[in-house]
Amino acid sequence: MTIDGGAHVVLVTGASRGIGAATARAFAAAGASVVLVARDAQRLATVRDEIAAAGGTAIALPADVSESGATEAMVGRAVGEFGRLDVAVNAAAAHGSRPRPLAEVPPDEFDAAITVTLRGTFLSMRSEIPAMIATGGGAIVNVASTAGLRSLAGLAGYVAAKRALIGLTESAALDYAAQGVRINAIAPGPIHTEQLDRAGAAAREHVARAVPAKRLGTVDEVAAAIRWLCAPEAAFVTGSTLVIDGGLLAGTPTFA
Ligand SMILES: NC(=O)c1ccc[n+]([C@@H]2O[C@H](COP(=O)([O-])OP(=O)(O)OC[C@H]3O[C@@H](n4cnc5c(N)ncnc54)[C@H](O)[C@@H]3O)[C@@H](O)[C@H]2O)c1
Repeated sequence: MTIDGGAHVVLVTGASRGIGAATARAFAAAGASVVLVARDAQRLATVRDEIAAAGGTAIALPADVSESGATEAMVGRAVGEFGRLDVAVNAAAAHGSRPRPLAEVPPDEFDAAITVTLRGTFLSMRSEIPAMIATGGGAIVNVASTAGLRSLAGLAGYVAAKRALIGLTESAALDYAAQGVRINAIAPGPIHTEQLDRAGAAAREHVARAVPAKRLGTVDEVAAAIRWLCAPEAAFVTGSTLVIDGGLLAGTPTFA
């Protein structure tokens, strides 16, 4: 089964800000009931209230997706509240505090990247997939990164986790294609989010200059791509990674 982004039940992890929050808003605006998951209860409540103020339906569920009991509880709550689960967008991720060469990366920081981004997505899917199969199928989108396809210096844990996440997505897609659960990844390039806001205008311009489209992407552009991957139009798309990067990975621009 494939959903149309309308009156369905959608769970989003990492929904307290950035791409996850924009995706939750987009599905809610299309009429879906949305379950918002992240660690930050206060910010999650703000996203929930914004969706409600716009006439949408959302519940906020503070949880740590790297704990198996927590992912089981989040799916249990979604099904308990709304009767089913049609779509899951797994966007929760841990970033290191700053880029640095591998020998200077604290082991805890590496572990956090693997634990949240990789194990967290594994556990999330492990809980989400049976709930989808119970009602005929569904669609999952895992949020990877262009850094999972072409490495970035100084981000050993992030790059390793995102590359592994693409393999995890493909493996899971093979396991469940015949049961109507489509599982895809997206690989966003530089997107204008808080992280890049914190880096400052000069850093943002530097990053944007490296993008063939000469700008950063927006969270709404990423949300639209996620919604398409979950729509009937994408019914034959599974195990793929959709790159959303303004041309960054297409190659090296020639000199004008
Ligand atoms: N911003 C970009 O340019 C960009 C580019 C490529 C990929 N991405 C990916 O997109 C996703 C969203 O990025 P963003 O920059 O919009 O937001 P972000 O990375 O700032 O936010 C991450 C979200 O994950 C949640 N989270 C972190 N650890 C968690 C845990 N253990 N359990 C539950 N939730 C947890 C946070 O609360 C937050 O909601 C991430 O997976 C990120 O790696 C972002």
